[in-house]
Amino acid sequence: MFTTINNVRLSFIDEGEGPAILFVHGFPFSRAIWQPQITAFAKNHRVIAPDLRGHGESSSPTGVYTMETFADDLNALIEERKCGPVVLVGHSMGGYISFAFYRKFPQKVRALILFCTRAGVDSEEGKTARENLAQRAEREGAVAVVEQMLPKMLAPAIAASRPDLAAQVRDLMLATSVNGLAGSLRGMAARPSSVELLPKIAVPALVVAGENDLIIPAAETETMAKTIPNAELAMISHAGHLASLENPDEIIMRMQQFLNRI
Ligand code: MLT
Repeated sequence: MFTTINNVRLSFIDEGEGPAILFVHGFPFSRAIWQPQITAFAKNHRVIAPDLRGHGESSSPTGVYTMETFADDLNALIEERKCGPVVLVGHSMGGYISFAFYRKFPQKVRALILFCTRAGVDSEEGKTARENLAQRAEREGAVAVVEQMLPKMLAPAIAASRPDLAAQVRDLMLATSVNGLAGSLRGMAARPSSVELLPKIAVPALVVAGENDLIIPAAETETMAKTIPNAELAMISHAGHLASLENPDEIIMRMQQFLNRI
């Protein structure tokens, strides 16, 4: 389905009935990274999953995509779909967006599921690297981002043993528009810290780490989980940064246990 929100045409799905779960993908992907979870949870939940602006089938305005802009898009989407407080699931950049969303609209969040993400900001070196990559993407296209980031997306053992999955991940990355790549990279570089937010999170949280995540080390995610008052940690074996695709069954099981508990 499509809707126009904040002057951007967004593609999304809204399937199933029951408590609402909003799935927010990371960079540079689309809702396709949640397909195993969407299929599983749409049986007994209402599942909403957009392609963020600049990604997937959504349109791609020029400019910097701040985490707050993405959060405003999500808020307008759940208002339009009238799906009430949601369980907000964010992967990596989707986690940065989830922090921005919770900061702005805490009453609309029933629980948080934070996947392979972090609360801290980029270092100065990291910000410069983001800007360099944004400029390279503008010159060379998505292949520049694939070259730099694909080798870190999957756990090394999984990348070596599952060429099908590596090819799927590559295709998803290549499908992201140049405006989406550059806008998101600059938005992530400008994001504020969410470290002070962590002890104030007043909803239950599940914090998911991929044991072999090469982008956001599992130990860092583990430390973040300890700072959120009502959080539990799910350390996912046989998974790197894209745990939802690398080990979908364990993710579904851990999410189901958490949803039963809250
Ligand atoms: C993501 O998966 O969303 C990105 O790798 C996050 C980041 O680059 O900080």
